[in-house]
Amino acid sequence: MEPIISTTDARLTLDGNAGRVEILRGITFEVTRGETLALIGPSGSGKSSLLMLLGGLESASAGQISVLGRDLTTMNEDELARFRRDHMGVVFQSFHLIPTMTALENVAIPLELAGVSDAFERAKAELESVGLGARLDHYPAQMSGGEQQRVALARASAPRPEILLADEPTGNLDGATGEAIMELLKGLRDRHGATLIMVTHSPELAERCDRVIRLRDGRLETEAPA
Ligand SMILES: Nc1ncnc2c1ncn2[C@@H]1O[C@H](COP(=O)(O)OP(=O)(O)OP(=O)(O)O)[C@@H](O)[C@H]1O
Ligand SMILES: [Mg+2]
Repeated sequence: MEPIISTTDARLTLDGNAGRVEILRGITFEVTRGETLALIGPSGSGKSSLLMLLGGLESASAGQISVLGRDLTTMNEDELARFRRDHMGVVFQSFHLIPTMTALENVAIPLELAGVSDAFERAKAELESVGLGARLDHYPAQMSGGEQQRVALARASAPRPEILLADEPTGNLDGATGEAIMELLKGLRDRHGATLIMVTHSPELAERCDRVIRLRDGRLETEAPA
């Protein structure tokens, strides 16, 4: 079966005031449709950067990144934005909620923009499923880090994306809440066939994925068999 995601020698090099930094040094791997993949590795090893490349949010300095048969490295910003909207959900490490919108609006407005007719109802259900039914009208600044994280996850999963990229989805959560998030993610896969790629420092979460890949210093270190 054709992989849903494949990268070939993907590299990311940034030139900053501190000089040139090689963040990803040639990443080649494939992800099968419906697979749940954990991306692990030490802080600074490039996990978030790789997720950004896969989501077309950062452009590769070299190599190829193919998602659903399209090479992201040949697409312009508008095409990438549309492609993401139609196929991918992304949960960032720093949430990126819109501060002037309530939890409900943060989830519902993007759905509305995507043409979903019952956007607010679906958003409400999605927030309830991550345990935030009592926080619908709260603004991000009125919520804890873990609550904001759950809003971000609800926002990413509500459109039922084919691919969900999540950076530390259970990072700020206690065990029980983390478990609920895991259930939500598994539901996306089981009911909607979603492919999940999760960055995590949690061995429990990694263990529940189909496959674990480890980054070290911008390279893939191991690719454990399923
Ligand atoms: N804009 C940037 N300019 C220069 N270096 C950067 C930039 N963004 C990230 N880096 C560097 O790239 C490396 C990888 O960063 P990345 O955020 O991908 O790591 P990570 O594996 O997600 O770490 P963590 O587990 O702490 O989130 C780090 O050494 C970081 O300092
Ligand atoms: Mg990171």
